[in-house]
Amino acid sequence: MQEKIQEILSEIEQFQASTKEALENFRIKLLSKKGDISILFDNFKNVSPEQKREVGQKLNELKNRAQEKINAQKEKFEQAEDPGIAAIDLSLPGESITLGSRHPISLVRKQIIEIFSRIGFILAEGPEIEDDWHNFTALNFPENHPARDMQDTFFISDGLALRTHTSSVQIRMMESSKPPMRMLAPGRVYRNEAISARAHCFFHQVEGFYIDTNVSFADLKQTLLYFSKEMFGEETKIRLRPSYFPFTEPSAEMDISCNICGGKGCNVCKQTGWVEILGCGMIDPSVLDNCKIDSKKYRGFAFGMGVERITMLKYQLKDLRLFSENDVRFLNQFKSV
Ligand code: DAH
Repeated sequence: MQEKIQEILSEIEQFQASTKEALENFRIKLLSKKGDISILFDNFKNVSPEQKREVGQKLNELKNRAQEKINAQKEKFEQAEDPGIAAIDLSLPGESITLGSRHPISLVRKQIIEIFSRIGFILAEGPEIEDDWHNFTALNFPENHPARDMQDTFFISDGLALRTHTSSVQIRMMESSKPPMRMLAPGRVYRNEAISARAHCFFHQVEGFYIDTNVSFADLKQTLLYFSKEMFGEETKIRLRPSYFPFTEPSAEMDISCNICGGKGCNVCKQTGWVEILGCGMIDPSVLDNCKIDSKKYRGFAFGMGVERITMLKYQLKDLRLFSENDVRFLNQFKSV
């Protein structure tokens, strides 16, 4: 056995692998389960007891030596394969990162929030799954009243629905805080409508309201004029048309002078020179009472607008469905905004 050990040892010393494969074959020949060294270990049990100590030591040395040699040669091959830092051309231009773009709805919502926050409106939030009280009853839509049909509702279960408007947030805020309050509630709303270029089953609104002891319709008008000029340009005019909402009295719908033709008449404003952008009014005293706010002492105005509508006017878009199709050819156009 000693001779065999010697033989393998000199084989190891002489070995020079020319390729990685040759090195691997050499490892298998010596160290695999049936390899030369493993066989010697198997035969170790036949060595006489007096020799066991010496032979055992030599066997271990042999195995270590084989492993060392193989590792050293392996490292050489790996180094040769790795081109290292010298192969990197530091003068090459880097790969550019493509920037994403904000969604047009987010851009316009942000702008609306900025405009109103400059005059003291703070943000409020409410749930998208809403109960009957906050979405309808407290807002003066009596049960079984036809006014509820103004908004086609997605009902979830008894007493719960997807909110049809952000006016529900008015109620939540009036219930939980005390006047004076000046709040803005942006959010997503849902209606059971067939999807078309002009309608969708979900869209975005921004609700605003102001409650204090001496709030008047003139304050509402001035606030909305300020907003319209900031949003659509200094030359913008507004007009208020009488309308009906259960939670405001009096109620109005507001038009702005057409931002495309400047009021002369075009396709967008259907030759009228005006386009409607929001609903508004003085908060009905019974809504204040529903929320335990003293309607003899306090008054308020409220307004609600569709973010899609304003975005379409601002960017001259004709199809509401573009907002939810995720077409990058559309979305990329808002990169620089
Ligand atoms: N909630 C109404 C809608 O979705 C919009 C609205 C009208 C909100 C008048 C108001 C308001 O706050 O005063 O059609």
